[in-house]
Amino acid sequence: MKLSMICENIKELQSQLIKQYGLEQLWLNEKPDYIEVNYIKVPKDKRKSGIGTAVIKEIQKYAQDSGKKIILLANPEKRKKSSLNRFYNNLGFKRKRSTDYSLPSHTHTWDNI
Ligand SMILES: CC(C)(COP(=O)(O)OP(=O)(O)OC[C@H]1O[C@@H](n2cnc3c(N)ncnc32)[C@H](O)[C@@H]1OP(=O)(O)O)[C@@H](O)C(=O)NCCC(=O)NCCS
Repeated sequence: MKLSMICENIKELQSQLIKQYGLEQLWLNEKPDYIEVNYIKVPKDKRKSGIGTAVIKEIQKYAQDSGKKIILLANPEKRKKSSLNRFYNNLGFKRKRSTDYSLPSHTHTWDNI
């Protein structure tokens, strides 16, 4: 069963995902109408084996079940901007210029509703 189906809240999902996938960092927040992915970091030696994708899919499932969209605060490493864009595009996210100026200009949103 997916972790997202058994977790009661976003902080529980966050700690379960960190444990299960051995993530270096994962910062999630739940707002009244969206889930915020502040940062995800897979350890260097475990990258490119599908962990990042599996984690985002769990978060997408959780968001879908709570009828919320996801906002990503993408903060790419140096020279990794286009790989990060590809990573998120492959997961169905579209870069969207936010009209909410409290959000950074590199914010991505993914509409799951
Ligand atoms: C981005 C990141 C979470 C992806 O996790 P992952 O487990 O490697 O991802 P997957 O194996 O599911 O997918 C691989 C895809 O991620 C992207 N990717 C790989 N390394 C990356 C890196 N260092 N930075 C950004 N994107 C990367 C590529 O698009 C890659 O696809 P490709 O194989 O077709 O090139 C991981 O690379 C990472 O922790 N990067 C450093 C921290 C970071 O930039 N976090 C995102 C900030 S919001």
